[in-house]
Amino acid sequence: MSSLIEKRSHQDERDSYHNLKLIGKGGEGSVYLVERSSDKKFLACKVLCNQVDGTPIEVRMLRDILPAHDKIIRLVEFIQSPLDTQLYFEYCPGGDLESLISSYHGRGNPFPEAFLWHVYVQLAEALAFIHYGYNAHTEDTDSHWLSVIHRDIKPGNVLLRPNARWSLENGPYLYSTIVLADFGLAISAQTPNRAPHSNYLVGTSTWQPPEIPFASPKGDVWALGAVIHALATGYPPIAVMPLHWAQTEENWERWTKEARAREISSVRGHYSSAMESYMGMALKRCLSERATSYDLFIGLKQGLIDTKLQVFSSSESTASTKLATNNYDSVFLSDMIALVR
Ligand SMILES: Nc1ncnc2c1ncn2[C@@H]1O[C@H](COP(=O)(O)OP(=O)(O)OP(=O)(O)O)[C@@H](O)[C@H]1O
Ligand SMILES: [Mg+2]
Repeated sequence: MSSLIEKRSHQDERDSYHNLKLIGKGGEGSVYLVERSSDKKFLACKVLCNQVDGTPIEVRMLRDILPAHDKIIRLVEFIQSPLDTQLYFEYCPGGDLESLISSYHGRGNPFPEAFLWHVYVQLAEALAFIHYGYNAHTEDTDSHWLSVIHRDIKPGNVLLRPNARWSLENGPYLYSTIVLADFGLAISAQTPNRAPHSNYLVGTSTWQPPEIPFASPKGDVWALGAVIHALATGYPPIAVMPLHWAQTEENWERWTKEARAREISSVRGHYSSAMESYMGMALKRCLSERATSYDLFIGLKQGLIDTKLQVFSSSESTASTKLATNNYDSVFLSDMIALVR
Protein backbone atom coordinates (compact mmCIF):
# COMPACT_ATOMS: atom_id res chain seq x y z
CA MET A 1 0.00 0.00 0.00
CA SER A 2 2.72 2.46 0.99
CA SER A 3 4.57 1.82 -2.29
CA LEU A 4 1.36 2.59 -4.20
CA ILE A 5 1.04 5.90 -2.40
CA GLU A 6 4.69 6.58 -3.11
CA LYS A 7 4.18 5.81 -6.82
CA ARG A 8 1.09 7.97 -6.94
CA SER A 9 2.87 10.99 -5.47
CA HIS A 10 5.75 10.62 -7.93
CA GLN A 11 3.18 10.35 -10.72
CA ASP A 12 1.55 13.56 -9.48
CA GLU A 13 4.88 15.35 -9.58
CA ARG A 14 5.51 14.09 -13.10
CA ASP A 15 2.05 15.16 -14.26
CA SER A 16 2.85 18.78 -13.57
CA TYR A 17 5.20 18.80 -16.58
CA HIS A 18 4.10 18.56 -20.19
CA ASN A 19 6.63 16.84 -22.43
CA LEU A 20 7.17 18.85 -25.66
CA LYS A 21 10.08 17.25 -27.53
CA LEU A 22 13.42 15.47 -27.32
CA ILE A 23 16.24 18.06 -27.44
CA GLY A 24 19.33 16.03 -26.65
CA LYS A 25 20.70 12.58 -26.14
CA GLY A 26 23.98 11.73 -24.43
CA GLY A 27 25.81 8.99 -22.63
CA GLU A 28 23.87 9.55 -19.42
CA GLY A 29 20.32 9.83 -20.74
CA SER A 30 17.84 11.80 -22.82
CA VAL A 31 16.97 15.48 -22.46
CA TYR A 32 13.43 16.74 -23.17
CA LEU A 33 11.98 20.21 -23.48
CA VAL A 34 9.07 20.28 -21.01
CA GLU A 35 6.54 22.87 -19.94
CA ARG A 36 5.72 23.26 -16.25
CA SER A 37 1.91 23.36 -15.95
CA SER A 38 1.83 25.71 -12.95
CA ASP A 39 3.49 28.69 -14.68
CA LYS A 40 3.96 27.56 -18.33
CA LYS A 41 7.71 27.86 -17.92
CA PHE A 42 9.97 25.85 -20.23
CA LEU A 43 12.52 23.59 -18.58
CA ALA A 44 14.94 20.94 -19.81
CA CYS A 45 14.35 17.53 -18.22
CA LYS A 46 17.22 15.03 -18.24
CA VAL A 47 16.04 11.48 -17.68
CA LEU A 48 18.97 9.30 -16.61
CA CYS A 49 19.06 5.99 -18.45
CA ASN A 50 20.60 4.02 -15.60
CA GLN A 51 18.93 3.70 -12.24
CA VAL A 52 21.06 5.54 -9.69
CA ASP A 53 21.64 4.49 -6.08
CA GLY A 54 21.37 7.60 -3.96
CA THR A 55 21.66 11.14 -5.25
CA PRO A 56 23.27 11.47 -8.72
CA ILE A 57 26.62 13.25 -8.77
CA GLU A 58 25.24 16.05 -10.98
CA VAL A 59 22.61 16.87 -8.33
CA ARG A 60 25.17 16.75 -5.51
CA MET A 61 27.39 19.15 -7.43
CA LEU A 62 24.73 21.66 -8.49
CA ARG A 63 22.48 21.51 -5.43
CA ASP A 64 24.77 20.69 -2.50
CA ILE A 65 28.36 21.61 -3.37
CA LEU A 66 28.53 24.54 -5.80
CA PRO A 67 26.75 27.80 -4.93
CA ALA A 68 24.61 29.24 -7.76
CA HIS A 69 26.64 31.07 -10.42
CA ASP A 70 25.65 33.01 -13.53
CA LYS A 71 27.86 30.91 -15.85
CA ILE A 72 26.77 27.53 -14.44
CA ILE A 73 23.56 25.70 -15.43
CA ARG A 74 20.73 26.04 -12.91
CA LEU A 75 19.19 22.88 -11.51
CA VAL A 76 15.53 23.63 -10.78
CA GLU A 77 14.17 20.33 -9.50
CA PHE A 78 15.18 16.73 -8.94
CA ILE A 79 12.67 13.87 -8.90
CA GLN A 80 13.73 10.33 -8.12
CA SER A 81 11.28 7.48 -8.21
CA PRO A 82 11.57 3.70 -8.33
CA LEU A 83 10.90 4.07 -12.07
CA ASP A 84 13.43 6.69 -13.11
CA THR A 85 15.55 9.71 -12.18
CA GLN A 86 14.68 13.14 -13.58
CA LEU A 87 16.73 16.32 -13.36
CA TYR A 88 15.00 19.59 -14.30
CA PHE A 89 17.24 22.41 -15.50
CA GLU A 90 16.68 25.93 -16.78
CA TYR A 91 16.06 25.63 -20.55
CA CYS A 92 18.76 27.22 -22.74
CA PRO A 93 17.02 27.85 -26.10
CA GLY A 94 20.27 28.83 -27.86
CA GLY A 95 21.26 25.14 -27.75
CA ASP A 96 24.83 23.91 -27.36
CA LEU A 97 28.15 24.96 -28.92
CA GLU A 98 28.52 21.63 -30.75
CA SER A 99 25.41 22.32 -32.87
CA LEU A 100 26.51 25.93 -33.34
CA ILE A 101 29.97 24.87 -34.56
CA SER A 102 28.51 22.42 -37.10
CA SER A 103 25.99 24.99 -38.18
CA TYR A 104 28.57 27.78 -38.76
CA HIS A 105 31.49 25.71 -40.04
CA GLY A 106 29.12 23.49 -42.03
CA ARG A 107 28.16 26.58 -44.06
CA GLY A 108 31.80 27.65 -44.39
CA ASN A 109 30.95 30.57 -42.16
CA PRO A 110 33.68 31.22 -39.54
CA PHE A 111 32.73 32.82 -36.22
CA PRO A 112 33.58 36.48 -35.72
CA GLU A 113 36.63 36.86 -33.48
CA ALA A 114 34.51 38.73 -30.92
CA PHE A 115 32.48 35.56 -30.37
CA LEU A 116 35.62 33.55 -29.57
CA TRP A 117 36.58 36.12 -26.90
CA HIS A 118 32.99 36.14 -25.65
CA VAL A 119 32.96 32.36 -25.11
CA TYR A 120 36.54 32.13 -23.88
CA VAL A 121 36.32 34.75 -21.13
CA GLN A 122 32.99 33.44 -19.81
CA LEU A 123 34.08 29.79 -19.70
CA ALA A 124 37.38 30.79 -18.07
CA GLU A 125 35.33 32.59 -15.43
CA ALA A 126 33.16 29.46 -14.92
CA LEU A 127 36.32 27.37 -14.45
CA ALA A 128 37.99 29.91 -12.11
CA PHE A 129 34.79 29.66 -10.04
CA ILE A 130 34.62 25.85 -9.80
CA HIS A 131 38.40 25.45 -9.36
CA TYR A 132 39.16 28.35 -6.97
CA GLY A 133 35.82 29.87 -5.90
CA TYR A 134 36.49 33.04 -7.95
CA ASN A 135 33.85 35.65 -7.18
CA ALA A 136 33.23 38.32 -9.84
CA HIS A 137 31.94 40.84 -7.26
CA THR A 138 34.92 40.70 -4.89
CA GLU A 139 37.24 39.86 -7.84
CA ASP A 140 38.94 37.36 -5.57
CA THR A 141 39.35 33.62 -5.07
CA ASP A 142 38.38 31.75 -1.88
CA SER A 143 41.33 30.31 0.06
CA HIS A 144 39.08 27.67 1.70
CA TRP A 145 37.51 26.53 -1.58
CA LEU A 146 37.50 22.80 -2.33
CA SER A 147 38.21 22.49 -6.01
CA VAL A 148 35.63 20.93 -8.34
CA ILE A 149 36.91 19.45 -11.62
CA HIS A 150 34.35 19.19 -14.41
CA ARG A 151 36.22 16.52 -16.47
CA ASP A 152 33.87 16.72 -19.45
CA ILE A 153 34.33 20.19 -20.93
CA LYS A 154 33.36 19.96 -24.62
CA PRO A 155 31.17 21.96 -27.03
CA GLY A 156 28.13 19.73 -26.36
CA ASN A 157 28.25 20.67 -22.67
CA VAL A 158 28.32 24.44 -23.22
CA LEU A 159 24.89 26.08 -23.63
CA LEU A 160 23.57 29.51 -24.65
CA ARG A 161 21.15 31.29 -22.33
CA PRO A 162 19.26 34.35 -23.72
CA ASN A 163 20.31 37.73 -22.34
CA ALA A 164 18.80 41.19 -22.65
CA ARG A 165 19.87 41.60 -26.31
CA TRP A 166 17.93 38.49 -27.37
CA SER A 167 14.61 40.03 -28.42
CA LEU A 168 11.46 39.54 -30.45
CA GLU A 169 12.55 42.24 -32.92
CA ASN A 170 16.12 41.04 -33.44
CA GLY A 171 15.63 37.32 -32.86
CA PRO A 172 18.01 34.99 -31.08
CA TYR A 173 21.32 36.65 -30.32
CA LEU A 174 24.71 35.01 -30.86
CA TYR A 175 26.31 36.83 -27.91
CA SER A 176 24.11 35.09 -25.33
CA THR A 177 25.27 34.19 -21.83
CA ILE A 178 27.59 31.18 -21.97
CA VAL A 179 26.61 28.46 -19.52
CA LEU A 180 28.64 25.42 -18.45
CA ALA A 181 26.41 22.34 -18.14
CA ASP A 182 26.56 18.57 -17.59
CA PHE A 183 28.29 18.05 -14.23
CA GLY A 184 27.62 14.28 -14.42
CA LEU A 185 31.35 13.43 -14.33
CA ALA A 186 32.52 16.20 -12.01
CA ILE A 187 34.64 15.38 -8.96
CA SER A 188 35.47 17.24 -5.79
CA ALA A 189 37.16 16.67 -2.48
CA GLN A 190 33.61 16.62 -1.07
CA THR A 191 32.53 13.58 -3.10
CA PRO A 192 34.02 10.48 -1.48
CA ASN A 193 35.99 8.07 -3.67
CA ARG A 194 36.13 10.66 -6.43
CA ALA A 195 38.97 12.81 -5.19
CA PRO A 196 40.62 15.28 -7.58
CA HIS A 197 43.83 14.21 -9.32
CA SER A 198 42.42 10.71 -9.75
CA ASN A 199 43.56 8.49 -12.58
CA TYR A 200 40.19 7.27 -13.74
CA LEU A 201 39.48 7.83 -17.43
CA VAL A 202 36.08 9.40 -18.08
CA GLY A 203 34.57 11.83 -20.60
CA THR A 204 35.30 12.20 -24.30
CA SER A 205 39.03 11.78 -24.98
CA THR A 206 38.94 13.98 -28.13
CA TRP A 207 38.64 17.05 -25.90
CA GLN A 208 40.91 15.88 -23.13
CA PRO A 209 44.54 16.74 -22.36
CA PRO A 210 47.58 14.67 -23.31
CA GLU A 211 48.05 13.64 -19.64
CA ILE A 212 44.79 11.59 -19.53
CA PRO A 213 43.75 9.62 -17.52
CA PHE A 214 45.34 11.93 -14.91
CA ALA A 215 42.66 14.47 -13.95
CA SER A 216 43.34 17.93 -12.48
CA PRO A 217 41.89 21.45 -12.81
CA LYS A 218 44.44 22.07 -15.58
CA GLY A 219 42.84 19.21 -17.54
CA ASP A 220 39.67 21.34 -17.68
CA VAL A 221 41.82 24.25 -18.92
CA TRP A 222 43.12 22.13 -21.82
CA ALA A 223 39.56 21.12 -22.70
CA LEU A 224 38.56 24.80 -22.70
CA GLY A 225 41.43 25.52 -25.12
CA ALA A 226 40.14 22.62 -27.26
CA VAL A 227 36.65 24.20 -27.35
CA ILE A 228 38.17 27.49 -28.54
CA HIS A 229 40.23 25.56 -31.12
CA ALA A 230 36.98 23.99 -32.42
CA LEU A 231 35.24 27.38 -32.58
CA ALA A 232 38.19 28.75 -34.57
CA THR A 233 38.86 25.82 -36.90
CA GLY A 234 35.75 23.60 -36.79
CA TYR A 235 37.57 20.63 -35.20
CA PRO A 236 39.30 19.61 -31.93
CA PRO A 237 43.12 19.70 -31.55
CA ILE A 238 43.55 16.07 -32.65
CA ALA A 239 45.51 14.99 -35.73
CA VAL A 240 44.10 12.59 -38.32
CA MET A 241 44.85 8.92 -37.65
CA PRO A 242 48.07 7.47 -39.10
CA LEU A 243 47.40 6.23 -42.64
CA HIS A 244 48.36 2.63 -41.86
CA TRP A 245 45.67 2.42 -39.14
CA ALA A 246 42.32 0.97 -40.23
CA GLN A 247 39.77 3.80 -40.20
CA THR A 248 37.45 2.26 -37.60
CA GLU A 249 35.66 3.91 -34.69
CA GLU A 250 37.55 1.73 -32.20
CA ASN A 251 40.89 2.83 -33.64
CA TRP A 252 39.80 6.46 -33.53
CA GLU A 253 38.97 6.02 -29.82
CA ARG A 254 42.39 4.45 -29.27
CA TRP A 255 44.14 7.20 -31.23
CA THR A 256 42.48 10.05 -29.30
CA LYS A 257 43.83 8.62 -26.03
CA GLU A 258 47.43 8.95 -27.25
CA ALA A 259 49.39 12.04 -26.22
CA ARG A 260 51.04 12.23 -29.68
CA ALA A 261 47.59 12.59 -31.31
CA ARG A 262 47.28 16.15 -29.92
CA GLU A 263 47.85 18.59 -32.79
CA ILE A 264 47.16 22.28 -32.53
CA SER A 265 46.38 24.24 -35.71
CA SER A 266 47.42 27.85 -36.06
CA VAL A 267 44.41 30.19 -36.15
CA ARG A 268 46.43 33.22 -37.26
CA GLY A 269 45.04 33.25 -40.79
CA HIS A 270 41.57 34.17 -39.49
CA TYR A 271 42.16 35.54 -36.00
CA SER A 272 44.51 37.90 -34.15
CA SER A 273 47.87 36.86 -32.73
CA ALA A 274 46.42 37.66 -29.27
CA MET A 275 43.74 34.97 -29.75
CA GLU A 276 46.35 32.52 -31.03
CA SER A 277 48.50 33.16 -27.99
CA TYR A 278 45.65 32.87 -25.42
CA MET A 279 44.48 29.63 -27.03
CA GLY A 280 48.08 28.38 -26.81
CA MET A 281 48.24 29.13 -23.05
CA ALA A 282 45.43 26.62 -22.43
CA LEU A 283 46.82 24.08 -24.91
CA LYS A 284 50.31 23.70 -23.43
CA ARG A 285 51.22 20.01 -23.37
CA CYS A 286 53.31 20.43 -20.24
CA LEU A 287 51.13 20.83 -17.13
CA SER A 288 53.52 23.18 -15.36
CA GLU A 289 53.53 25.52 -18.38
CA ARG A 290 49.75 25.45 -18.86
CA ALA A 291 47.84 28.43 -17.39
CA THR A 292 45.51 27.95 -14.43
CA SER A 293 41.88 28.90 -15.10
CA TYR A 294 42.27 31.91 -12.81
CA ASP A 295 45.38 33.25 -14.59
CA LEU A 296 43.73 32.59 -17.94
CA PHE A 297 40.59 34.50 -16.93
CA ILE A 298 42.58 37.51 -15.64
CA GLY A 299 44.74 37.45 -18.79
CA LEU A 300 41.73 37.19 -21.11
CA LYS A 301 40.00 40.13 -19.44
CA GLN A 302 43.13 42.21 -20.07
CA GLY A 303 43.44 40.82 -23.60
CA LEU A 304 39.85 41.81 -24.25
CA ILE A 305 40.57 45.38 -23.14
CA ASP A 306 43.72 45.51 -25.29
CA THR A 307 42.07 44.15 -28.46
CA LYS A 308 38.46 45.22 -27.97
CA LEU A 309 38.35 48.08 -30.45
CA GLN A 310 40.06 46.13 -33.18
CA VAL A 311 38.00 42.98 -32.57
CA PHE A 312 34.59 44.58 -32.33
CA SER A 313 35.00 47.17 -35.07
CA SER A 314 36.12 44.58 -37.61
CA SER A 315 33.63 41.82 -36.93
CA GLU A 316 30.54 42.85 -35.03
CA SER A 317 28.05 43.51 -37.79
CA THR A 318 24.30 42.93 -37.56
CA ALA A 319 24.63 39.73 -39.57
CA SER A 320 27.27 38.29 -37.29
CA THR A 321 25.26 38.90 -34.15
CA LYS A 322 22.29 36.83 -35.35
CA LEU A 323 22.29 33.32 -34.02
CA ALA A 324 22.55 31.21 -37.18
CA THR A 325 21.65 27.79 -35.91
CA ASN A 326 19.30 25.13 -37.16
CA ASN A 327 18.90 24.04 -33.58
CA TYR A 328 16.76 27.06 -32.83
CA ASP A 329 13.02 26.59 -33.25
CA SER A 330 11.23 29.77 -34.32
CA VAL A 331 7.87 28.58 -32.94
CA PHE A 332 9.17 29.12 -29.44
CA LEU A 333 10.61 32.60 -29.98
CA SER A 334 7.92 34.69 -28.30
CA ASP A 335 7.86 32.38 -25.29
CA MET A 336 11.61 32.51 -25.04
CA ILE A 337 11.46 36.28 -24.78
CA ALA A 338 9.49 35.73 -21.58
CA LEU A 339 12.46 33.80 -20.23
CA VAL A 340 14.67 36.85 -20.65
CA ARG A 341 12.34 39.25 -18.90
N1 LIG B 1 19.27 22.94 -20.12
C1 LIG B 1 19.33 22.65 -21.40
N2 LIG B 1 18.81 23.48 -22.34
C2 LIG B 1 18.90 23.17 -23.65
N3 LIG B 1 19.46 22.05 -24.14
C3 LIG B 1 19.99 21.18 -23.25
C4 LIG B 1 19.95 21.42 -21.85
N4 LIG B 1 20.56 20.39 -21.23
C5 LIG B 1 20.96 19.55 -22.18
N5 LIG B 1 20.63 20.00 -23.40
C6 LIG B 1 20.91 19.32 -24.69
O1 LIG B 1 21.02 17.93 -24.45
C7 LIG B 1 22.35 17.47 -24.75
C8 LIG B 1 22.77 16.38 -23.77
O2 LIG B 1 22.73 16.89 -22.43
P1 LIG B 1 23.83 16.49 -21.34
O3 LIG B 1 25.17 16.84 -21.87
O4 LIG B 1 23.46 17.10 -20.04
O5 LIG B 1 23.62 14.91 -21.30
P2 LIG B 1 24.65 13.73 -21.26
O6 LIG B 1 23.87 12.50 -21.33
O7 LIG B 1 25.53 13.91 -20.08
O8 LIG B 1 25.51 13.95 -22.58
P3 LIG B 1 27.00 13.45 -22.94
O9 LIG B 1 27.22 12.14 -22.29
O10 LIG B 1 27.01 13.41 -24.44
O11 LIG B 1 27.91 14.52 -22.42
C9 LIG B 1 23.23 18.73 -24.72
O12 LIG B 1 24.37 18.60 -25.54
C10 LIG B 1 22.25 19.79 -25.23
O13 LIG B 1 22.18 19.77 -26.65
MG1 LIG C 1 26.87 16.19 -22.20
